[in-house]
Amino acid sequence: MMKILVIHGPNLQLLGSRQPTVYGTVPLARINQELKQMAHARGAILTIMQSNHEGEIASVIGAARGRYDGLIINPAAYTHTSVAIRDAIEAAGLPTVEVHLSNLYAREPFRHQSLIAPVCRGQICGFGPISYRLGIDALLALWAAAPQGSLHPSMPTRKPSSAARASKRRKRR
Ligand code: DQA
Repeated sequence: MMKILVIHGPNLQLLGSRQPTVYGTVPLARINQELKQMAHARGAILTIMQSNHEGEIASVIGAARGRYDGLIINPAAYTHTSVAIRDAIEAAGLPTVEVHLSNLYAREPFRHQSLIAPVCRGQICGFGPISYRLGIDALLALWAAAPQGSLHPSMPTRKPSSAARASKRRKRR
């Protein structure tokens, strides 16, 4: 079973009432409940936390190595500012998907830059709560392609096939 850590960043505890035209009307508790159900049905276990504190998020990511197989993070406003969270993700070495409810690129220019995305496997934004589900599906697909626990942001997801290895050996001779 893939163990996935889900982190919601600052102000996401307000989902449901916060700028509903941008973030929708679904409260965080319901998003979490639905994510857990979905993950359970696909054979994954989720641990979910929300924090308004950069240092706490960095600490939780720092303790995640070896305990989880993947990370889903909506860093919220820290997306655009936090070198600490970026470095924590890079150091943890877990396959990470950055998710956002809103489409960052259709919003203010300061939201177009993510300091986090370069250390993630990918970024999903603009689908409301579905962004999280897509993120989990992406991690599960990576896990299925490399179940041996060798997932890393900078590593290929698949070992070369035995045919590719044999052809490389032939070339070396
Ligand atoms: C957000 C987008 C961020 O720019 C913003 O600061 C948030 C939420 C999103 O999910 O759309 O708090 O991460």
